[in-house]
Amino acid sequence: MNADPFVHHITHPLVQHKLTLMRRKDASTSSFRRLLNELSMLMTYEVTRDMEVTYIDIETPMEAMRAPTIDGKKLALISILRAGTGILDGMLQVVPGARVGHIGMYRDPNTLQPVEYFFKVPQNMEEREAIVVDPMLATGNSAVAAITRIKKTHPRSIKFMCLLTCPEGIACMRGAHPDVHIYTAAIDRELNDHGYIMPGLGDAGDRIFGTK
Ligand code: URA
Repeated sequence: MNADPFVHHITHPLVQHKLTLMRRKDASTSSFRRLLNELSMLMTYEVTRDMEVTYIDIETPMEAMRAPTIDGKKLALISILRAGTGILDGMLQVVPGARVGHIGMYRDPNTLQPVEYFFKVPQNMEEREAIVVDPMLATGNSAVAAITRIKKTHPRSIKFMCLLTCPEGIACMRGAHPDVHIYTAAIDRELNDHGYIMPGLGDAGDRIFGTK
């Protein structure tokens, strides 16, 4: 059982079923992408659960009522390149008005530290709730660096959403950004010596884009 209130493990059977299909090494690129899209939609349901609603006056065929709405553009979905992009489509299908940002990081081969090479986020971040997305929270180094950078734009809140993580990734994120809620479909056993999550699903970017 996970007692940390900042770590949201989404155990819904539909999410778990689709994740299992994605993990299989014989899943084709097209089915991996389709499942990622579906999983992203389902996970968006959880990650937006506490979104603010505004009541508006409408008329049903029966009578007038006040009904709740959300303001999608208050959300800034920030993809960590390149694998985060695979999650965006599904999220935008359920919150089409959301704004989108991208942040690119690579790992310096000498220092092994993440280096930013691209940063473009919506204007007026201080009016928005940021959801940073990357399928894998592995070492946590890129995600932590991305969130450190995004904090400088002063969004109203920041959440992090991934498909898979591991104890090492959670510890890294919780240590650096204890205010950031993590949403994940699985917490796997461990990180291997090459920084891959075990049992994991392999290289998420390669599996989404068919590059290997
Ligand atoms: N990135 C991936 O794509 N897979 C992992 O297992 C870890 C990091």
